[in-house]
Amino acid sequence: MRNRSFRRLLKQAKTLLQNKGIKEPAASSEHLLAAILGVKRTDLWLVPEIPQTTLKKFDRLLRLMIEKRMPLAYILKNQDFMGLPIGLKSRVTFIPRPETELLVETAVREIKKQHNASTVLPLPLDGGGQGGGEIYKSRNYKHGSRLDIADIGTGSGCIALALWTFLKDAYQVRLWASDISKAAIGMARKNAEKLRCPRKSVRWFCGRLLEPLPRTVKLDTVVSNPPYIPERELKNLPQEVSLWEPRRAYLAGPDGLSVIRPLIVQASARLKPGGLLAMEFGYRQADSICKLLEKSGFLNIKFLNDYENRPRVVLAKSSFIG
Ligand SMILES: C[S@@+](CC[C@H](N)C(=O)[O-])C[C@H]1O[C@@H](n2cnc3c(N)ncnc32)[C@H](O)[C@@H]1O
Repeated sequence: MRNRSFRRLLKQAKTLLQNKGIKEPAASSEHLLAAILGVKRTDLWLVPEIPQTTLKKFDRLLRLMIEKRMPLAYILKNQDFMGLPIGLKSRVTFIPRPETELLVETAVREIKKQHNASTVLPLPLDGGGQGGGEIYKSRNYKHGSRLDIADIGTGSGCIALALWTFLKDAYQVRLWASDISKAAIGMARKNAEKLRCPRKSVRWFCGRLLEPLPRTVKLDTVVSNPPYIPERELKNLPQEVSLWEPRRAYLAGPDGLSVIRPLIVQASARLKPGGLLAMEFGYRQADSICKLLEKSGFLNIKFLNDYENRPRVVLAKSSFIG
């Protein structure tokens, strides 16, 4: 590529990516060029001239996206999640998705609603279940009171770190984050350091689901974006996912529920009465999830739709019984 105007250069890159079926070709080209130049995407137009070395690097990285199908977030080793820069590594940490921002936004809203001056807790009367049959008892959470929140399957740590960021001014939050991958936990710790998150605010554990968390800790909230894709769907996934993202981050047995099943059971045992479970899941799994939650005694089960209007996030309250 010869040195030429930004507009022409970016237009050419966009067309190249578009023709090869790369998603968001215009934004991807701009992000990539801005990252190479070390400027913000909005300041690209202020750069007086593109050095020859930059052009070469831009060319090489575009080819990596096109020929090797490497996702831009892994090339940049970084992804924005709710305004936070999250460091990533291919085949180690899953790339945070927009649905997960919806999960965190919803969880934060619900936590704030549940834990203000006069919090109400659901009590099961006639068997509980979805919707009615409850009376309410108040429990006084004061502003600034301590909250124990778990992020299960934390990966890059994006959920735990976003929850800490958005709740730390209102509560004394203690986050308990776990992942089965030691390498992912290493990356999450680095992200926490970069964001200057104190060690006592988020504690990182390697292990299965809630098992590595100290037994004595009873949780106010469990948030999770677990793996939920059925294994048979692997062949239909884009190469950007199947070649570069860690498989155990998204594959979950024959029906996609092999991690969610024990997660629901363990969450019900570790949540305080009335504690909140907020979880992301696959868009065809709402019915199965509802049954699993009811079986574990969860109440007030509420589903939320993603930006394509499909149910992708569930909120449920742990019951007093069980
Ligand atoms: C879909 S990724 C989510 C990562 C991150 N929380 C996010 O939202 O971007 C699922 C994560 O769960 C982890 N995981 C899979 N099975 C697990 C298990 N049994 N116990 C704990 N973590 C698990 C994977 O390593 C992966 O990091």
